[in-house]
Amino acid sequence: MDFAKVAFEPMNEVHEKEIKILEKLLKKIENNEDYSKEYHEFLEDVKNHFGFEEELMKKYQFFAYVPHKMEHDKIINELEELQNENTETLKKYFDERFLPWLDQHIQTMDTVTAGFFNMINAKV
Ligand SMILES: [Fe+2]
Repeated sequence: MDFAKVAFEPMNEVHEKEIKILEKLLKKIENNEDYSKEYHEFLEDVKNHFGFEEELMKKYQFFAYVPHKMEHDKIINELEELQNENTETLKKYFDERFLPWLDQHIQTMDTVTAGFFNMINAKV
């Protein structure tokens, strides 16, 4: 899976790590194998990923902190609600909602946020 690169390298690294974990999870779902462990791992990684961006936005008082965090919170809620769903529902969710969302989110919110971090020379 390929997603856009942003102007702040630590964010790209977090995104790449998440995609690897997601690919593992999707393979499990695809093969109808038990995916509870991978789902848990993925959810934790998403929380860390979002938390990482949110901490930096707060630290550097990024102007769009609130709308950015709201997008994150919505997805965390969805992922938490879906964790005991069946394979079909999850497949549909990842294909039709999560992946298009992530693609869009990286190209908009994350791109603007990363541009800001880059411009002010933010330190992780
Ligand atoms: Fe984000």
